[in-house]
Amino acid sequence: MRETTIGGCEVGYEKAFQTAQDDPKGFWLDAAQDLEWLKAPTVAHDAATDGWFPDGKINTCINAVDRHVAAGRGDQAALIYESPITGKSATYTYSELLERVSRTAGMLAASGVKKGDRVVIYMPMVPEAVFGMLACARIGAIHSVVFGGFAAPELAKRIEDSKPVAVLSASCGLEPNRTIAYKPLLDKAIELSSHKPDACFILQREELRCELVPNRDLDWNAAYDAATAVDPVPVASTDPLYILYTSGTTGTPKGVVRDNGGHATALSWSMKAIYGVEAGDVYWAASDIGWVVGHSYIVYGPLLAGATSVLFEGKPIGTPDAGIFWTLIDKHNVKVLFTAPTAIRAIRRADPDGEFIAKASLDSLTALFLAGERADPDTLLWIADQLKKPVIDHWWQTELGWPAIATCFGMGETQIKPGSAGRAVPGYRFKVKDEAGHDADAGTVGTLLIEQPLPPGNFRALWNNPERFQQGFVDFAGHYTSGDAGMIDADGFIHIMGRTDDIINVAGHRLSTGQMEEVVANHPAVVECAVVGAADELKGEMAVAFVVTRAGVGDLDSVKKDIVRTIREDIGAIASPRDVFFADALPKTRSGKVLRNLLRAILNGQEIVVPQTIEDASVIDALVDLAAPQPAA
Ligand code: COA
Ligand code: AMP
Repeated sequence: MRETTIGGCEVGYEKAFQTAQDDPKGFWLDAAQDLEWLKAPTVAHDAATDGWFPDGKINTCINAVDRHVAAGRGDQAALIYESPITGKSATYTYSELLERVSRTAGMLAASGVKKGDRVVIYMPMVPEAVFGMLACARIGAIHSVVFGGFAAPELAKRIEDSKPVAVLSASCGLEPNRTIAYKPLLDKAIELSSHKPDACFILQREELRCELVPNRDLDWNAAYDAATAVDPVPVASTDPLYILYTSGTTGTPKGVVRDNGGHATALSWSMKAIYGVEAGDVYWAASDIGWVVGHSYIVYGPLLAGATSVLFEGKPIGTPDAGIFWTLIDKHNVKVLFTAPTAIRAIRRADPDGEFIAKASLDSLTALFLAGERADPDTLLWIADQLKKPVIDHWWQTELGWPAIATCFGMGETQIKPGSAGRAVPGYRFKVKDEAGHDADAGTVGTLLIEQPLPPGNFRALWNNPERFQQGFVDFAGHYTSGDAGMIDADGFIHIMGRTDDIINVAGHRLSTGQMEEVVANHPAVVECAVVGAADELKGEMAVAFVVTRAGVGDLDSVKKDIVRTIREDIGAIASPRDVFFADALPKTRSGKVLRNLLRAILNGQEIVVPQTIEDASVIDALVDLAAPQPAA
């Protein structure tokens, strides 16, 4: 390891930010030296392909696992599995992780999976899911993890698009109130998809075992026991490590492609500079491996840093209580916790006086990081007061892969402004443009853009979809359009105002209302519909559907039940709408565009600004009667 670095924590935030602005190539080439390369890069960035470290060769698994064993950290805990939902816990040292991952890689290789092949991982939060991801990285296969809460048709879309050679799955997932049989969902998804994987490795969990399909399904444990460990395969820095599908504005998810070298460089740098976490520290991202937070900060980030990562199969409340976060921080000496504001709101609701917090010893905890949705100041200040530790909001997206706006705690920064996600992280150059496309003044809200080239770790492609990838950059040439509205204040703090498109954030889960509309519109009783996000005290936002039915549909109650059931069956229970309202008409412009902002304003009890272009303003009163929040009695 080098003694000093040009963008390291020791130089401080301001200097690092400036260096990354003035000499991004030097900055990131220097950061890349923290990794073990199979061929060290001599070039930082290739403008023609927008690839980072184009002549470098690397293996992400070596960097996340093997090299820590080689450096003498074999006996250190790499992964701590805590499953209050099953009552199980386990710790895997780096040596054990190496054994598990290299044999899981052998298991995949034995069934023909090779470099460049895709492997879909549809798993609950169990250690085997992490072994599977790293095993793919080891042999250069491209994993595509699908969140276990997605229903069969969503899984089918991802299988159809990524065309996996193999699928890794489990017999079941566990929610506090029920056991989710994964296998029927997987079988259904494969039936719906025209692409059929050659092999499905199924982890049989004792809570619910399942039947295996002959000539396709393999018992994971039996296949693992029969497998031998395989060595890592060198890949180009720019080769894909994974595809992660995320919601876009249409019903078709976007397959965000992440490279190997840029990703490893950015994540390893972020662990120190943003979170202040280094080898030997314990880091816990209480998210799910199905989301980008789970990819980056349950699996790759902490392991690339040689830290210990906590894998949590449970909920912030109810498994068994609202004290579980604090109990586990105490038990494992967690240094940094990362979660979604929703989790804190749920904890606050269940433990308003922080009795569980007071009971635990939280000496090891240095900071709590929040992301995934807006951190409302009330929640942020409440938890900061309870913990008496820095609570840091930070902002990023699946496309970016790691935080772009933060308070760089690892560089000694602690100044936060509640309501702002922090300042631009070194490597990111933000701009706000007004509606006319001009640079907005400080304090003025507009479209939040990031100047190209994006730093390492950010997406460089959408799987199978170069046109859609380009669309993210066309409106403001030379800039990535984040899809969020925001403003930069006079001190450089960036305030996020919410999405400018049809994406909503429900309990930190990114969902497309356009996709929900497609499902609702398919109901035979529905003539037209609009789904928008309504502010929700617990989940930040929740979907609400406005539906116009065909004449003569009598039993609206059963239509409503059908709509909710179909959304749950087609997308997943996480997308359950909070309400379905039956309206006589939707507010539209004269050109027929539904005025979703107006519906949102009605739902949220905000001031209603009637646009000049409205076709028929008389529909508004009826919608207000139907959906506006009722004043408290
Ligand atoms: N597999 C299957 N189903 C899942 C699931 C999964 N992995 N995750 C959630 N669901 C289901 C739930 O069982 C629930 O089903 P139900 O409607 O039949 O009860 C539904 O999806 C909604 O789940 P959820 O959003 O988790 O709401 P909840 O009311 O069960 O719990 C919270 C509320 C606040 C405890 C929960 O939303 C939470 O833990 N939020 C934090 C989320 C988070 O960490 N996000 C981080 C992303 S970075
Ligand atoms: P995802 O791709 O699932 O990470 O979702 C990204 C979106 O979540 C962003 O475009 C924002 O709209 C929202 N988001 C993430 N973090 C924050 C934050 N700290 N504050 C406000 N919104 C956030």
